[in-house]
Amino acid sequence: MTQDEMKKAAAAAALEYVEPGMIVGIGTGSTANHFIDLLAEIKHKIDATVASSIASEERLKAHGITVLDLNNAGALSLYVDGADESNKSLHLIKGGGGALTREKIVAAASDKFVCIADESKLVDTLGKFPLPVEVIPMAQSYIGREIVKMGATPILREGFTTDNGNIIIDVHGMEITDAIKMEADFNKLAGVVTVGLFASRPADVLILGTPTGAVTV
Ligand code: 5RP
Repeated sequence: MTQDEMKKAAAAAALEYVEPGMIVGIGTGSTANHFIDLLAEIKHKIDATVASSIASEERLKAHGITVLDLNNAGALSLYVDGADESNKSLHLIKGGGGALTREKIVAAASDKFVCIADESKLVDTLGKFPLPVEVIPMAQSYIGREIVKMGATPILREGFTTDNGNIIIDVHGMEITDAIKMEADFNKLAGVVTVGLFASRPADVLILGTPTGAVTV
């Protein structure tokens, strides 16, 4: 099975969490795209969706799936999204696609967060994947210096602007042993919009695609 087929297997398994009449929160990325495409086959079953990015919104709409503004949807019962890394506590690194802020908002507004990924995303220690941080542009240099003080290397994601009009700094060389504390530490920095650590609100379920099919962690 290819990595993409494993992502699709995880996405297919997540369909079991979709119940009639739900408004479903939808993530961003190639694994979330598989989920969107599979959701299209049962779109009559759900009420609507809330998207975590413009890209996902466009894909949902292309399938004829209703997309609501989160402000008009109330609390969501389910959020389905991918991840760049997960540890065994289901603390995640997200934001490889740059949608971390809207993803974190939709995850926070949802009762259950089902994370879907291929098996390569499960790691012992978070941080090999560069940690994305969404930053207000005028704070770029300041945040860069703070990251260097933490002993890591900040690299600007060149030519990339988030859906919210901000920049992404990818933090390289960070070994994350206490994800909850590190998330809080980043959140305290002026100019940080969102750090791509999902630890204070981790995933509730992790479905991994493996060569022999989907496995729930
Ligand atoms: C986007 C994300 C994605 O969930 C993450 O990058 C995983 O992407 P993929 O499913 O393509 O491997 O956080 O901001």
